[in-house]
Amino acid sequence: MTDSLSDTLLRWYDRHARTMPWRTSPADRAAGVQPDPYRVWLSEVMLQQTTVAAVKDYFHRFTARWPDVAALASAADAEVMGEWAGLGYYARARNLLKCARAVAADHGGQFPKTRAGLLTLPGIGPYTASAIAAIAFDEAATVVDGNVERVMSRLYRVETALPAAKPELTALAGQLTPAQRPGDYAQAVMDLGATICTPRNPACGICPWNDACLARAEGMQADLPRKSPKVAKPVRRGVLWLGHQDGGWLVERRPERGLLGGMLGFPGDGWDGAGGPAPAEADWQDVGEVRHTFTHFHLILSIRLARICTEPLRGEWASRTVFRPADLPTVMRKAFDLARDSVDG
Ligand code: ADE
Repeated sequence: MTDSLSDTLLRWYDRHARTMPWRTSPADRAAGVQPDPYRVWLSEVMLQQTTVAAVKDYFHRFTARWPDVAALASAADAEVMGEWAGLGYYARARNLLKCARAVAADHGGQFPKTRAGLLTLPGIGPYTASAIAAIAFDEAATVVDGNVERVMSRLYRVETALPAAKPELTALAGQLTPAQRPGDYAQAVMDLGATICTPRNPACGICPWNDACLARAEGMQADLPRKSPKVAKPVRRGVLWLGHQDGGWLVERRPERGLLGGMLGFPGDGWDGAGGPAPAEADWQDVGEVRHTFTHFHLILSIRLARICTEPLRGEWASRTVFRPADLPTVMRKAFDLARDSVDG
């Protein structure tokens, strides 16, 4: 029973695998093509909390600029953080660099080939270690993301709500993981969840597992997985000062630790309600508000704009030629776009 479910899914995957820039197709794999662990690792880190559609362009830019782990390991921090700007969850980018440097310095430029070995690297947790071990090295590791949780909750009609159901869903996914072709299998379950066993209106009519699906037998597939009610996110308010001079902007690199750690931005007041001084004496004008939602809170920032003629107290000047708005994380980019309209208009 267990074997035949994975066989059925692998046959489906042979015909319907999605094409992705980092993926080795089932046909290529069968012909002996080995996935590149660097590309598998990079894509899996990018795909955490981010959609395939959003990742594709970033993946192309990263691999064009840094084609292997040695190249990435020797890149400057600011270049990598700038290239990551807009993808969010910036701790991933800081850990990406740490990991690349650890692979280069401690592992002779080769990723460890087992899940256990991969887990010793910075920024590689249980999910990523399993994904790389399975996809790049065909280890029978079980990969459980949100798609897989949904598929398992329906297939086995698990009515416990998430996140409490995670261990049970992980165990069920583990029992299904085959010894043959575990890398293709891992990607097949994720594809099934992304394309057929979707959150709303699952396409059960064309699902390779529809006969076995316990939720479908009860007509309750759309009700699963159940989820514990989310707690409302608090709202935080703050100020961002955008100072300019001769086409250059007063910027500040954020501390390594904490929100937007290591990213380029504009000086703020701490955003904790305590207030704080402007980074320079100037005739600051209020040009509006920017809203942005982070994992744990909504942020509303008042944007102040001024032409600076005095010596700033903080920050550094990024000249017209050096300043690249594309290096800014999304909330800073929103503030910049708003301020620029006021400068131009
Ligand atoms: N989501 C995260 N990793 C994935 C993969 N390798 N294939 C499909 N979806 C994914």
